[in-house]
Amino acid sequence: ACALFYKKDLNGKTVLVSAGPTVEPIDPVRFISNHSSGKMGYAVAAAAEKRGARVILVSGPVNLDAPAGVECVSVGSCDQMYDAMFDHLDQADIIVKVAAVGDFKPVSTQAHKIKKSGEQGHMTLELTQNKDILKAIGLKKRKNQYLVGFAAETRDLETYATGKMEKKHLDMIAANIVGKSGSGFKADTNKVKLFTRDGHVTDLPLMPKEAVAHAILDAVVQAIS
Ligand code: CTP
Ligand code: CA
Repeated sequence: ACALFYKKDLNGKTVLVSAGPTVEPIDPVRFISNHSSGKMGYAVAAAAEKRGARVILVSGPVNLDAPAGVECVSVGSCDQMYDAMFDHLDQADIIVKVAAVGDFKPVSTQAHKIKKSGEQGHMTLELTQNKDILKAIGLKKRKNQYLVGFAAETRDLETYATGKMEKKHLDMIAANIVGKSGSGFKADTNKVKLFTRDGHVTDLPLMPKEAVAHAILDAVVQAIS
């Protein structure tokens, strides 16, 4: 598409986006992760760049090319994503946290490959909760920084999503029902409902992730101007 089609309504703004899954190593050859494709976060980064923003994209491992004109920071674990987000937080006017962060990590990462031992056929992996990156940003952010979170829910979308918005001190949450066809981790389309702290609700139709990204940015621009 021709660049003239995009309003440059994010000119002069810095947008910090996180995308993709996190990866928590168990030993040198194994890890815990999730099915996030990174498509929704990359779409937000690409859309913000087309609208004139400087964009910093902190991404877990995905099979996507970096969007043109976007500064990319590659991370693996939740702890690495936390550090990368806080390294760039001061510069950001708008933060959009799309990443599917693993809620738990192994208590310790083994230096050597774990061996099968004995014949019982059982093994227990002890996990500990990861830092909540979004909540930490919500507590630390300046009043003039606009913070958007995502919520993936399989039921009671509105209750859980608005609960997360409160708990994590967000300005907006983009809630999507996962597990329905055409919506969620692997799809090229998404069905999202936006809730803002000041009570605006926008129920977006099922549409390509690029269009969802622009609709989210439309709502952000409206809220900050
Ligand atoms: N998030 C985060 N750090 C975590 C977990 C989640 O920054 N350790 C962020 C995600 O990037 C997303 C938002 O929090 O923007 C909501 O993630 P979600 O998994 O839906 O919510 P949780 O708070 O982890 O709650 P639960 O998984 O129990 O529903
Ligand atoms: Ca979670």
